[in-house]
Amino acid sequence: MNPGCANFLRCLRCGHSPLEVSARVQTSTRVMEGWIHCLACQSKWPVIAGVPRFVAHPDYTRSFGEEWNLFSKTQLDSYTGTTVSRDRFREVTQTDPSELEGKHVLECGCGMGRFIEVLAESGSEVIGIDYSTAVDAAFRNTQQYPNVTIIQADLYNLPLRPDCFDFVYSIGVLHHTPDTRKALHAIAAHVKPGGQLAVWVYRKYRLFRPYRLYRYFLRRLSAETVLKMVKFYHPIPWFLRRIPIVGKSLSVFLPIVDYRGVLPLRSEHQREWSYLDTVDALTPWFEWRHVPDEVKRWFEELGYERIVLGGTPCSVIAKRPKAARAETIRETASVCVA
Ligand SMILES: C[S@@+](CC[C@H](N)C(=O)[O-])C[C@H]1O[C@@H](n2cnc3c(N)ncnc32)[C@H](O)[C@@H]1O
Repeated sequence: MNPGCANFLRCLRCGHSPLEVSARVQTSTRVMEGWIHCLACQSKWPVIAGVPRFVAHPDYTRSFGEEWNLFSKTQLDSYTGTTVSRDRFREVTQTDPSELEGKHVLECGCGMGRFIEVLAESGSEVIGIDYSTAVDAAFRNTQQYPNVTIIQADLYNLPLRPDCFDFVYSIGVLHHTPDTRKALHAIAAHVKPGGQLAVWVYRKYRLFRPYRLYRYFLRRLSAETVLKMVKFYHPIPWFLRRIPIVGKSLSVFLPIVDYRGVLPLRSEHQREWSYLDTVDALTPWFEWRHVPDEVKRWFEELGYERIVLGGTPCSVIAKRPKAARAETIRETASVCVA
């Protein structure tokens, strides 16, 4: 961890801030092993392999930890040699990374860090948090950037001071938690008055998709086992989907995610992304789906202003009002999370 980020930390037990960092092993820019202490109530949390750990067990996010450590580089722009992740960030947050240069940014549910890499390159001061062991992949992928800190924590109860960040975002995460609306309320409390919050959550489908039924059973298996199954049946829908008009319908019972013709990836990367996102669809414990107006209403409840729906359905960015109304937002957020 970057020791400077201790100023942003808050004790999970008594709320005291800042916390103290003591290093056992460190490099010139990072604490690799050590402890985070609260001097007020004497609580402490470990720093292991460069990551402060505020959760002891990954709980319902187990499959994500496995998935992101199996595919730890797949979606990094530095790995694909494309700007797919940068473009995706711009599309769903309606914000160009260059606008965030020098700003304090928080990503909630950073996975293996594909968007953190984009923002680190653009000069933001970024904290990425994730509940799962994906933080190990995220740390490895971003450790060369002194402006990045990765923390293992639960977004419902973040060890971070409220009202602190210029920009908070969460892409493809809140619907994978027990309650999407409560998750939004929880992270909203960390935006500073006048700052912005951008999220994207899954939209509702009109028709039932068989993968949802499969997920009900497959989420009990390890991501590695599901990946073996996907690799086994993958050639059939991969071939069927090339057949014009009927191809997609024919392959609906052997679901795969297919970006051919959608994303500018080399063929070996197309297949790797397909494996990754198919496992990603089949293994999460929670997966809620929403409509854009519903998400907009949650921002209204929070008192946010300038709420703008993006072109990607269920992507929203909004501004937290300055001063007076901000207090109401904090109160609303704590009532919702309690
Ligand atoms: C589909 S992945 C998206 C990762 C990243 N945002 C991306 O688009 O590449 C969802 C991530 O949310 C994380 N997550 C789920 N519940 C969480 C929680 N309560 N607190 C923090 N992270 C959580 C999972 O561990 C997982 O890495």
